[in-house]
Amino acid sequence: MHVTHLSLADFRSYSRIEVPLEAGVTAFVGPNGQGKTNLVEAVGYLATLGSHRVSSDAPLVRMGAERAVVRAQVRQGDRQQLVELELNPGRANRARINRSTQVRPRDVLGIVRTVLFAPEDLALVKGDPGERRRFLDELITARSPRMAGVRSDYDRVLKQRNTLLKSAALARRHGGRSMDMSTLDVWDQHLARAGAELLAQRLDLIATIQPLADKAYEQLAPGGGPVALEYKPSAPSEAHTREDLFEQLMAALAEARKQEIERGVTLVGPHRDDLMLKLGQLPAKGYASHGESWSYALALRLASYDLLRAEGNEPVLVLDDVFAELDSRRRERLAELVAPGEQVLVTAAVDDDVPHVLSGVRFAVSEGTVERV
Ligand SMILES: Nc1ncnc2c1ncn2[C@@H]1O[C@H](COP(=O)(O)OP(=O)(O)O)[C@@H](O)[C@H]1O
Ligand SMILES: [Mg+2]
Repeated sequence: MHVTHLSLADFRSYSRIEVPLEAGVTAFVGPNGQGKTNLVEAVGYLATLGSHRVSSDAPLVRMGAERAVVRAQVRQGDRQQLVELELNPGRANRARINRSTQVRPRDVLGIVRTVLFAPEDLALVKGDPGERRRFLDELITARSPRMAGVRSDYDRVLKQRNTLLKSAALARRHGGRSMDMSTLDVWDQHLARAGAELLAQRLDLIATIQPLADKAYEQLAPGGGPVALEYKPSAPSEAHTREDLFEQLMAALAEARKQEIERGVTLVGPHRDDLMLKLGQLPAKGYASHGESWSYALALRLASYDLLRAEGNEPVLVLDDVFAELDSRRRERLAELVAPGEQVLVTAAVDDDVPHVLSGVRFAVSEGTVERV
């Protein structure tokens, strides 16, 4: 698929902007702080309902404005669709498809698909487990948009279960009446149900993406691998069927319960898991060099692209300011790998940062104006 038109209202630094787009490569070039990333961040938001830079919506709304609107005309084969999201920080966001009546924001997932490369990706390798969980879960949702519902169920149940555990912990400390455990049993069931589904998808994704990541790493840094992705669950999860994973989670919750009541927080489940990224025999985190970590992060994104493309609807590739970070060899390799993409959106501070194979349409971005050059 590709985006043929992007409109923003009160999104980030833009009060209003209309950007016509084409298939193929488009580069947004301009000095720092002019609004290049803001444009591609909006495209990414339509695909994931989140930003690659911030975890809440508030900074996405133009300072002083109440809400932001992101709208994109999307073409997939012969099909045209218009998707629109209204961001209302502190209140529910709204969504529309083809100017129809409202749908839930998560109903637009799958219309715009992106694989976004950004300097922030280094955190995939060097950062906390949460970064890697988000990587997995966003990709799971891109593969299968209904997983957005499972993720939000899981988050909701987890929050409620934690509230319950917290009050149990407080009651215990202050010698209050002990809690009715049957309530907790019910929450265990809900948590394990959604958790097992998420876990099954993560394990399947890792098995599928592993050879793709290894191939991508070899292309970016020949002879530097191999890379291996190893899931590190907080509860044992050898089995891969959803029913087995459910049983294992239930058993792990039962075992952890005493400790959970002491600490007032849920200690097992997908929200506590990690993905270990191995380079050769060692974990990349803590061992890989800066350059290796970069290659690893890029390999994960390239693998995501291969996967989504192989499974049908080709995503938009977004490369936000990544070429300036790379040495010339990796820069050329990455450029060659992404160049054939159906739509590639690149941002760069100067023309020279855009590799030659990525020649295409150029826009100059300056003080909030976006002009084709
Ligand atoms: N919510 C907002 N309201 C107004 N301006 C914003 C908002 N968020 C970011 N900006 C401005 O956008 C600019 C950064 O834009 P960005 O797209 O990140 O720049 P770059 O061209 O370097 O990628 C900064 O000047 C910042 O002050
Ligand atoms: Mg930027």
